[in-house]
Amino acid sequence: MTVFETIKNRRSIGKMTAQKPTRKQIEQLLEAATHAPNHHKVEPWKFLVLAGKSRAELGAVMAKALAERLGDVTNDRAQAMLNKEHNKLLRSPVVIVAAAEAPHQPNVLAIENIEAVAAAVQNMLLTAEELGLAAMWRTGDAAFDPHIKQWLGLAPDDQVVAFVYLGFPAIQRLERRPTPFEEKTTWLDWEE
Ligand SMILES: Cc1cc2nc3c(=O)[nH]c(=O)nc-3n(C[C@H](O)[C@H](O)[C@H](O)COP(=O)(O)O)c2cc1C
Repeated sequence: MTVFETIKNRRSIGKMTAQKPTRKQIEQLLEAATHAPNHHKVEPWKFLVLAGKSRAELGAVMAKALAERLGDVTNDRAQAMLNKEHNKLLRSPVVIVAAAEAPHQPNVLAIENIEAVAAAVQNMLLTAEELGLAAMWRTGDAAFDPHIKQWLGLAPDDQVVAFVYLGFPAIQRLERRPTPFEEKTTWLDWEE
C-alpha cells in the first residue's frame, strides 16, 4: 500500500476483539510515532502502554476523578456514568496514552509540542492501519484531569493528547467521505 492509500483507507474502529496485538506491533507504532515532525527537535512525546490490569487500575482512577467532577453521585444517571468510565479502557486490549511535555525551553511553545504529539499519534494510526490493527483516538474530560495526569506520572502542565485504543477489528469500519478539499482550500497566484 502506498502512504496515500493507507491515509485514505484509515478509519477509526471503536470495537476490538480481546486479542492483544504483539509487542513487536506496538513497538512499530511507537517507532513510527518518534518520526513525527517536531519544532526545535525537542521530541516532546511521552508514551504509556497500558495492557492487562493497568487498564482497570486507570479506569478506577478515571471513575474517581469523574465522581469528583460530578459532585453529587447519588443518582442513577451519575452511577451509570461512573460505571461506564470505570470500564472505558477495557474496550480494547491495549491503550497507548500519548502525552506532550510542557516546554522546558523559552523558545518552545506548548501548542507546538501538542501539535507534534498529534502528528506522532497520526503516525501510529497509519501504522496500525498498515498492520491490520483497529485503532481509535479518544480523549474526553479524563485527558485534562489532574488526577489522571498524576497517575500517569505526568507533570501538571503536560498534556494528554490521545488515548489510542488498539486491538484487532471486531466490526467493519464505517465509511466516511471527507468534505472535498476544494471546499476548504483557497489558491493564491496558482497560474495554470
Ligand atoms: C483530538 C481528537 C480527539 C478525539 N476524541 C475522540 C473521543 O473522545 N471519542 C471518539 O469516539 N472519537 C474521538 N476522536 C476520533 C474522531 O471521532 C474520528 O477521528 C472522526 O470521527 C473521524 O473518523 P475517522 O477517524 O474514522 O476518519 C478524536 C479525534 C481527535 C483528532
